[in-house]
Amino acid sequence: MTQPIKRIGVLTGGGDCPGLNAVIRAVTKTAITEYRLEVMGIADGFLGLLENHIHPLNNHNVSNILTLGGTILGTNNKCDPRRFAVKDNGGIRHVNRVPDGLRNLKAAGIDALIVIGGDGTMSVACDFVAQGINCIGVPKTIDNDLEGTDVTFGFGTAVAIATDALDRIHTTAASHHRAMVVEVMGRNAGWIALYAGVASGADVILLPEIPYDIDAVCRFITARKEEGKHFSILSVSEGAKPRHGEQVVAKIDPMSPEPIRLGGVGEKVANDIAARLDIETRTTVLGHVQRGGTPIPADRILATEFGSRAVHLLMEGQRNRMVVMKGRVVEDIDITQVANKQRTVPVDHPLIVAARGLGTCFGE
Ligand code: F6P
Repeated sequence: MTQPIKRIGVLTGGGDCPGLNAVIRAVTKTAITEYRLEVMGIADGFLGLLENHIHPLNNHNVSNILTLGGTILGTNNKCDPRRFAVKDNGGIRHVNRVPDGLRNLKAAGIDALIVIGGDGTMSVACDFVAQGINCIGVPKTIDNDLEGTDVTFGFGTAVAIATDALDRIHTTAASHHRAMVVEVMGRNAGWIALYAGVASGADVILLPEIPYDIDAVCRFITARKEEGKHFSILSVSEGAKPRHGEQVVAKIDPMSPEPIRLGGVGEKVANDIAARLDIETRTTVLGHVQRGGTPIPADRILATEFGSRAVHLLMEGQRNRMVVMKGRVVEDIDITQVANKQRTVPVDHPLIVAARGLGTCFGE
C-alpha cells in the first residue's frame, strides 16, 4: 500500500525562465493551505538534491514572488545524476550519483517530488521514477519545445521581449535603410522566432525547421527595395541553418549533459546578405534578456494553474504525471512520455501558412 503523502519536495531544473517563482508559490501555497503538507525546497535543481541542499518552504518564503523573474530556489542545467560530470586529471569522468539523491530524499522524509523543468529535467526525473519516487512534472521553457503540452510558461514572456526588440529595430532599420537581423533563442525549435516575427511583422523569418537559401532571402530583400521599401527586418532563430549547411555553434560545454550552445547565425546571415547586396546590415543578439525579468500576466496565470494542478494530482493519488495544457484545458500525461523529446514547429503550422499568405519570406 502506498504511504500517505505528508512532505513534498520541489525543485527547478534546466535553464531558468519567467514564471518559475509563480509555480513555486502555487505549489507551496496549495500544499500548505489545502492539504496541510510540508514543503521542502531543493536548491539548484537536481544538484541540490545530490548535495543535500534542502530547506523548508512556507507561505512566508513564497510571499511576493509571483511577479519575480528567475527562481528563488536556484537552478542548474549541468547536472545529470546518472552521468554526473567530474573534472579529473585534465579530463572529465562521469559517475552515477542517483544513489546520493535517493539517500538525501529519504533522509529529508520527502514522499514525492514536484519537478519544474524542460525535457532534460523530465528525463532525469524518470531515473528517480524508476527507483520508485513519485515525480510530478511541471513543464517550463522559453523555447516552448516540450512534447505533450501546447504551451509552456515563459514562452509568452520571451515572445513579448523579442517582439518589443523587433518593433524597436523597425524604426532604426527604416531610418538607415538597413537589413536588420534579430537573433532569438529557442534551441532546435523556431517557436520564438515565428511568434515574435509574426507579432512584429518581420519581413523574413528563419527557423531551424525550414533550412534557408540565402539567395532566396537576398532576392526577397531586393524585391522589397524595388517596391520602394529600403529596409528589411529579419527574425532569426538561433537554430536556423542554411540549406546544405550546419547550425552555428557558439560554445561547447563538455560538463553539460547537453553540451552544444547555439548562437551566431544572426551574424552569419547579416554578413552573407552584405556580401551579396548593396545594403548595410546589422545584427542584434537578444540572448538571455529573453529569459530574465517579470513574467507577463499570461505566464503567471499558466504557472499558477500548473503548480496548483501538480499538487492536486499528487493528492488525488496520481503517480508520475506531467501537467500539460491542451487547448485551454489543464490535463496531465505520463511523465516518461516527454523525456528527452523536443517539439519543433511543424512546417505546415497555421501561423507559417498565414504569414506566407501575407508575403513573409521563410528563406525558401
Ligand atoms: O532552453 C532555454 C535556452 O535559453 C535556449 O533557448 C538556449 O539555447 C539555451 O537555453 C542557452 O543556455 P545557457 O543558459 O546555458 O546559455
